[in-house]
Amino acid sequence: MSEATASRDNGTEPMIEMTGLNKWYGDFHVLRDIDLTVQRGERIVICGPSGSGKSTLIRCINRLEAHQQGGITVGGITMTEDIKRIEQIRRQVGMVFQHFNLFPHLSVLENCCLSQIWVQKKPRHEAEKLAMEYLERVQIAEQAKKYPGQLSGGQQQRVAIARALCMRPEVMLFDEPTSALDPEMIKEVLDVMVELAREGMTMICVTHEMGFAKTVADRVIFMDQGQIIEEAPPETFFNHPRSERTKLFLSQILGH
Ligand SMILES: Nc1ncnc2c1ncn2[C@@H]1O[C@H](COP(=O)(O)OP(=O)(O)OP(=O)(O)O)[C@@H](O)[C@H]1O
Ligand SMILES: [Mg+2]
Repeated sequence: MSEATASRDNGTEPMIEMTGLNKWYGDFHVLRDIDLTVQRGERIVICGPSGSGKSTLIRCINRLEAHQQGGITVGGITMTEDIKRIEQIRRQVGMVFQHFNLFPHLSVLENCCLSQIWVQKKPRHEAEKLAMEYLERVQIAEQAKKYPGQLSGGQQQRVAIARALCMRPEVMLFDEPTSALDPEMIKEVLDVMVELAREGMTMICVTHEMGFAKTVADRVIFMDQGQIIEEAPPETFFNHPRSERTKLFLSQILGH
C-alpha cells in the first residue's frame, strides 16, 4: 500500500479540507487565506461577483490550478507536488464546467467511456454498460450515438455530468454549469443536480441559481476579492446576511 493510500482513514474524515490557502497569479493575490472544510455528503454553493476567485478556488481542489501557500486535503489525501498523489486526488473528484468541455469528435457514449477505458483500464463492454446507466439517469440514453454538436446545450451538460459520474467520484465540483444555457434548458440540468444531491453526493457548486441554493445547499459561501466573506445555511444567508458586501451582492442578483 502506498503512503498516500495508507493515509486514508475509514471515511469519517472531511471530504475536503483547505487551510490557509493562498494563491497568486504573478503579483495578483487571487485567493486569500481560504479556510474551508466540506464534510462527506455536504452540498455547498459558492457565489460572489465576477473575478472574486470562485473558479480558481474549486480548480485548486483537483489541481487544475496550483496554490502557493496553505494545505488541501481531499478524502484524507494531502496534496503535494507528487503527481501520484495528485492523481489519487483527481480520481475522487468529478468536475463539470460552464462550457461542457465534451470532445466534439467523439459520440456521447465514447465521451463517457474514454477515461474509464484509458485511465481506469476497464474493458470496453464494462465501460459502455456503466456509461449507459448514467446516461439513463440523466435521461439522455437515447442520444448515446450522437455527437455533442448534435445536442442542445442542456443535453450536452447532462452528458458532461454523466461523464463525470462514470468515474465514480466521491465529490462533484460544478463551475457555473447552467450559466451558458438558454433559460429553458437550465431546469433540466438543475433537476439532475438536485437528484444527485438527494442521493447524497458531496457537491460544491459555483452557481448564481439561488433557487437551487435554497433547495439543496447545506451552506452558501459568499466570496469577494479572493476571500470567503460569509458562509451560512441558505435560510440565514438569504434572510439575514451579515456583511454589507453580501447584502449588496444579494440585492444585485435577486433584484432582477
Ligand atoms: N490564468 C490566469 N492568469 C492570471 N489571472 C487570472 C487567471 N485566471 C483568472 N485570473 C484572474 O483571477 C481572478 C479570479 O478569477 P476567477 O476565474 O477565479 O473568478 P470567478 O469568481 O470564477 O469569476 P466569474 O464569475 O467571472 O467566473 C480574476 O481577476 C481573473 O481575471
Ligand atoms: Mg468563474
